[in-house]
Amino acid sequence: MRIKKHPILGSLEKKKEVNIVVDGKMLKAIEGEPIASALMANKIITFRKTRITKEPRGYFCGIGLCTDCMMIVNGVPNVRTCITPVTKGMKIETQTV
Ligand code: FES
Repeated sequence: MRIKKHPILGSLEKKKEVNIVVDGKMLKAIEGEPIASALMANKIITFRKTRITKEPRGYFCGIGLCTDCMMIVNGVPNVRTCITPVTKGMKIETQTV
């Protein structure tokens, strides 16, 4: 879900849509938006699982401090998705750590 019209910020401006692949599934995202925003817009809220208990983690601080949103992006682990912008064709995977 995306907020398309906000009472203070106004309407969401049109931006370029791109495809990303998340755990093998192709999804639409807006180029330049944080990966975490794209995932939540596609109803994905689990970004990683803890190593020992496999508990789900997702968006928490939103400013790159807590590491709860870390995922594997284009083969690189520990990418904080709340501060990493979407680019065309990105491959994103749930991380277990
Ligand atoms: S949500 Fe805390 S670092 Fe991304």
